[in-house]
Amino acid sequence: PRGGPGTDGALTFQPVQQNFLDELVVPAGYGYAVVMRWGDPVEDGAPPFDVDAQTPDAQAKQFGYNCDFIGFLPLNRNRALLVVNHEYTDEQLMFGGVADEEGAGDITDEQKRVAMMAHGISVVQVKRSGNSGIWQPTRQLDRNRRITTATPFRLTGPAAGSQYLRTSADPAGRTVLGTLNNCAGGITPWGTTLHGEENFNQYFGTSAPITENPAEPRLGRYGVSAEDAPTRRWETVDPRFDLSREPNEVNRFGWVVEVDPHDPTSTPRKHTALGRFKHEGANIQIAEDGRVVAYSGDDERFDYVYKFVSKRRFDAGRGHRARAHNMTLLEEGDLYVARFTGDSPAAEIDGSGRLPSDGEFDGTGTWVPLVEDGRSMIAGKDVAWVLTFTRLAADRLGKQLDAAGDFPDPAAPVVVDASKVPTRMDRPEDIQVNPVNGRVYAALTNNSNRTGAGGRPGADEANPLTRSFAFDTGSGTYEERAGNRNGHVIEWEETGSIAGDTFTWRVFLLAGDPEDPGTYFAGYDKSQVSAISCPDNLEFDHAGNLWISTDGNVLSTRNQEAGTVAGTNDGLFAVPVEGSERGHLKAFLTVPLGAECSGPLIPEDGRSVFVSVQHPGETTGSTRDTPSSVWPDRLAVRPFPRPSVAVAFRHDGGRVGA
Ligand code: FEO
Ligand code: CA
Ligand code: CA
Ligand code: CA
Repeated sequence: PRGGPGTDGALTFQPVQQNFLDELVVPAGYGYAVVMRWGDPVEDGAPPFDVDAQTPDAQAKQFGYNCDFIGFLPLNRNRALLVVNHEYTDEQLMFGGVADEEGAGDITDEQKRVAMMAHGISVVQVKRSGNSGIWQPTRQLDRNRRITTATPFRLTGPAAGSQYLRTSADPAGRTVLGTLNNCAGGITPWGTTLHGEENFNQYFGTSAPITENPAEPRLGRYGVSAEDAPTRRWETVDPRFDLSREPNEVNRFGWVVEVDPHDPTSTPRKHTALGRFKHEGANIQIAEDGRVVAYSGDDERFDYVYKFVSKRRFDAGRGHRARAHNMTLLEEGDLYVARFTGDSPAAEIDGSGRLPSDGEFDGTGTWVPLVEDGRSMIAGKDVAWVLTFTRLAADRLGKQLDAAGDFPDPAAPVVVDASKVPTRMDRPEDIQVNPVNGRVYAALTNNSNRTGAGGRPGADEANPLTRSFAFDTGSGTYEERAGNRNGHVIEWEETGSIAGDTFTWRVFLLAGDPEDPGTYFAGYDKSQVSAISCPDNLEFDHAGNLWISTDGNVLSTRNQEAGTVAGTNDGLFAVPVEGSERGHLKAFLTVPLGAECSGPLIPEDGRSVFVSVQHPGETTGSTRDTPSSVWPDRLAVRPFPRPSVAVAFRHDGGRVGA
């Protein structure tokens, strides 16, 4: 355990209340500081930010848009590298005069190029302010770096160089320009950072309709439209985003990316061995025998949870050779997908929210191999195919296939081995290992379609909530169709080896308003807990308490303005996972109007918690010129919001939460 002297991990702060404020709200005794805002200088030569005069060259040296994952790599006690994802851009909030009803269709080619440069990753050197928990950027920019859509990446692993990844600009299939839609991430034990490429589908359009092979919907299964142009229309300024002209470019996104922030000249890599899907992020645990395990969720309704196990072993040495070796660990290994099996009768998982008679939504699980010992587990498909079209491969497990490895009838797959069919989950988001108890925690953010209707799956013990939902809005009754509206958190422990293929699991939290009988806070007294909705990113403090940020809060039963069903502001929550306080969840902070809270990061000393305030002001009808949020600058003239990383701290300099 990492707990320091005199710390028992109790969370003593006064919870903040649900609200609609355009402010970052922290508990009494705490403050916050803005660390980096969209447009702040990152690389040497960055011009001052001017919201009316952004150029691609300026943006390529400035902090990008919509910050998400935050990595923190200490250089010494008072200096560190902050590594931040820029998940996506909101053109209506970035550029004036955009009012296209589809979102971004009217923006100029120059603005599209600015948006491209506002994607990617930032590395920023920060230093401690005095002896506090406050961190601010340093004036030295020599370690800083912007990674954008123009930065070369090297593909590694079995799919690198394969026929699926070759393009006219890169006939070898080994070098990709840029990374897109980087959502969550992780910090490796060897001091690099991992970044998931999530909703890459939205960047690809087509100038001519494409016919998909129905046996192998390489585009459709990933939500890439073969007909409709996306609202971004990047294909009009760069033909590689045109599916009809460069059909394989889309296959070069959807990977886990590894960056070495300590070397600003290093070439970042995309690791094909971890599979291609809408990677939320990736987080690492070292197994007993030194092999490295990486967990990753595929954030889509009814998609899967994955586990990668490296072939080679971690070298705990501190020298350059050990680090160079460790940096190869994600290039080769086995890939598994999770099957969760409940231990209660199906009749007890009835969607009422009532706990089953054994008192828990729980059971056992297996990791079903997709690639093992370098071999494809899908007969008729090679390893590069399995890793490039991982969703299609996982769908095939346990099902009857023809000689080509396809369903004889794609409309009606036949199960031949139910024990190999992975579990379709409620949007798996961040997955993180608790450094104190060793258990793994996964956020399942929500699933409005878990209704059992239209051929879709209904409740199962690992995805148990299917309740209808109705309340009085003040001007009538609002009814939400059945579905997992508020999401949940599952915890599991590997049985046998960490690198093995079996685990036990239980639902830790069924999110929502605690007054709702369908919610569950690990058995804790629900009159004492904060309401929470749509868990997204996870973090642990020194004592092993779980911190949960939310994205898409739909709690509105008691707080909405009459006639609307808008949820209250998203935020960050903390909850013990052990002892008598297990399940005592409390709201730690809320983010400004329209924002999600992402990237929570607590440095080892526990005196700060960084959050990304992503997309403040992103509400219906909000534009740069008529924004619903003016955080954090609150300019009197020309007010507009700026996505920013903020750090919350205790005024007395103590550990956050304690
Ligand atoms: Fe970008 Fe799955 O949240
Ligand atoms: Ca996220
Ligand atoms: Ca059970
Ligand atoms: Ca999310």
